Amino acid sequence: MRGLLARVLAGCIAVAIGVARADLGDFALQKVLQASTEIFGDTAVDTTTTTTTSASAAKPYADWMSAIPDSTPLARLNIPGAHDAATWNYTSATQASLSYATRCDGVTPQPPQTYRTQRRGIGDALDAGVRFFDLRFALDPIDGGLAFWHGAALLSGRSAVDDVLFAFYAWLARHPREVVLLSFQYEGGTKEGAGFSGRAQELLVSALTEGAAGEYVRRDGGGRLGTLGESRGKVVLLRRFDLDEGRYGGLVLPGLHLSPGRWPDNEEEGFALVYNDTTNATAFIEDYYEPADLGVNSTVAGNVAAKLDAVRMHLEKAAAAAAAVNITTNDADGEEEEEEEDSLFITFASGEHNTNNPPVFPETMALGNGTEATPDGGVNQQLAAVLRDMQGSRLGIVVLDFFDEPEDLVGLVIGS
Ligand SMILES: *[C@@H]1O[C@H](CO)[C@@H](O)[C@H](O)[C@H]1NC(C)=O
Ligand SMILES: *[C@@H]1O[C@H](CO)[C@@H](O)[C@H](O)[C@H]1NC(C)=O
Ligand SMILES: *[C@@H]1O[C@H](CO)[C@@H](O)[C@H](O)[C@H]1NC(C)=O
Ligand SMILES: *[C@@H]1O[C@H](CO)[C@@H](O)[C@H](O)[C@H]1NC(C)=O
Ligand SMILES: *[C@@H]1O[C@H](CO)[C@@H](O)[C@H](O)[C@H]1NC(C)=O
Ligand SMILES: *[C@@H]1O[C@H](CO)[C@@H](O)[C@H](O)[C@H]1NC(C)=O
Repeated sequence: MRGLLARVLAGCIAVAIGVARADLGDFALQKVLQASTEIFGDTAVDTTTTTTTSASAAKPYADWMSAIPDSTPLARLNIPGAHDAATWNYTSATQASLSYATRCDGVTPQPPQTYRTQRRGIGDALDAGVRFFDLRFALDPIDGGLAFWHGAALLSGRSAVDDVLFAFYAWLARHPREVVLLSFQYEGGTKEGAGFSGRAQELLVSALTEGAAGEYVRRDGGGRLGTLGESRGKVVLLRRFDLDEGRYGGLVLPGLHLSPGRWPDNEEEGFALVYNDTTNATAFIEDYYEPADLGVNSTVAGNVAAKLDAVRMHLEKAAAAAAAVNITTNDADGEEEEEEEDSLFITFASGEHNTNNPPVFPETMALGNGTEATPDGGVNQQLAAVLRDMQGSRLGIVVLDFFDEPEDLVGLVIGS
């Protein structure tokens, strides 16, 4: 991958020439950022619209965290997220351009709509106020580096994980009071025989801990979500992967470990995931992504209703938990309060029923199918109505497909 090479060169050049010729380092950075655009979007290199000074009415949420007090626990913020954020440009043209890299063991690739859950780039999402990104990685087709995938779909042959991390860092450097939560999940099913192997683990550990990651990824022993103040200008990691105990048993990676082994599949009621066994700090998660129990001949409206119910119930749980903390705060000691402060709510509003007839693709689920069959739109339009009624409540992280529609959705998550 060219981007990775550029990064290595940047490091070598910086070491070789030091500050005297720092402008070469800038050129090298531009090269890395250029390599990131297929996943991050063109704003990685065209930053004219994303500087703090130009924040305007057009981008009211570009720096929304800056006004919130440092002492606020991250778990108490309402944070809009982008589900499978790297899929935004996975059109038929992109799928065709990557056909050389699709699996060749007889697995037929699904239509591109199966994999696509966004249509705006990551930089656009950041500027729009999105602060949580669901990213799926695995080894690239030649095991040369780490690439972004959604299932069997390679999402870019050019933008490597390292390149895109640099683009996040560069954005944070321009928005030093913001915090970005990055959820890294090892994506299975990418190609025949693929697994989270030694090489993939080694590359990921290096990407998340070495070089610029040391500056930009919040590292404090892990297992604590902490406050906004201690995280500003940084990435907070959510680790949806397990490292080999044998090799990495002693290594404490930054961020929260949301172990895949503790993440039940497609659980309608949501579940509790303890991410720190010492403090019992818990993430409450709703990730009911496929209403499979409706059967394969279900309607779009039926699928949207089933998904929206799961989302609404979970958001109400988050709001009620906040109310419970208020009671705890009044009559118990500070210790109990602190325990609650790290209780994180993550609600996935994303979903699909691709195996239905006709398929309910992620876009159909999020936005409806544009006919009288979905007069109230999809999950997103109906969620906007739910959120209007819940303004002022604690929601936690709300992870969206097609976050840009309706236009006020991200703002409704953030609240006033
Ligand atoms: C999006 O995909 C199209 C078609 O594959 C491609 O021409 C375009 O360069 C891509 N956009 C970015 C920002 O990479
Ligand atoms: C759990 O949290 C405690 C207290 O913040 C911290 O010292 C410890 O390192 C964390 N454990 C893990 C496994 O992250
Ligand atoms: C964590 O939960 C376990 C099981 O419910 C309990 O035994 C333990 O005392 C709890 N630890 C803390 C620090 O609350
Ligand atoms: C779904 O509809 C098809 C065609 O109408 C029918 O053959 C099939 O039995 C139905 N499947 C279920 C599970 O109802
Ligand atoms: C919209 O959904 C309805 C009901 O699920 C279905 O009958 C119809 O074919 C769909 N229309 C389009 C254009 O997808
Ligand atoms: C909890 O307390 C805060 C601060 O006093 C208050 O703003 C908020 O409305 C309360 N939440 C609930 C659900 O009572």
